[in-house]
Amino acid sequence: MRALSILLVLFSSTAFSNDTATTLLKPFKQELKQALMAGLQQSPETAVEVCQQQAPALAQRFSVDGVEMGRTSDKLRNPANTAPDWVVPILTQFQSGDLTPVTVALDANTEGYAEPIMVGPPCLTCHGSQLTPQVQQALNEAYPDDHATGYELGQWRGLFWVSYPNQ
Ligand code: HEC
Repeated sequence: MRALSILLVLFSSTAFSNDTATTLLKPFKQELKQALMAGLQQSPETAVEVCQQQAPALAQRFSVDGVEMGRTSDKLRNPANTAPDWVVPILTQFQSGDLTPVTVALDANTEGYAEPIMVGPPCLTCHGSQLTPQVQQALNEAYPDDHATGYELGQWRGLFWVSYPNQ
């Protein structure tokens, strides 16, 4: 018990950068961005489809060897992106305006990390407040319970999370 408390103190909520976690997330973020940009070059509706297929597939592809990763939000588009239990308090923290990335000890052998995702210019095509009828229609069809529109540039949108063996 005492060892566990010390561990928790050592690893909870540090504001330091977490190299392991950011290295694990990097290819996921890069490939997601590439897929999205390639889709957008064809058409925004195509990109919706690309994102619908690629985002979950990529998260799954990089979730191997005891590593799990994904994206979540307080305003979900895809209900399958619901936050794992340990991520819920971090969502609340980011929602409150404290956007400091968080590292937590999940158990003696596992760490978790989460960092905020902000709305940049390309995001507005599918998460903004003025969607084209084509994008709106593609979203309605794929996500009948979409909560992820109406965002402004620079707003907090959600987070990337990853959990991994800590040695
Ligand atoms: C072409 C349309 C499109 C664009 C552009 C787009 N998204 Fe999305 N976004 C989607 C779709 C579709 C999903 C659901 C895919 C999934 O299952 O993860 C999604 C899901 C998400 C999620 C996961 C949480 C949830 O609501 O399901 C986050 C976070 C997110 N987008 C952030 C962004 C950010 C930040 C940008 C800009 C860099 C962006 N998106 C650009 C279509 C788009």
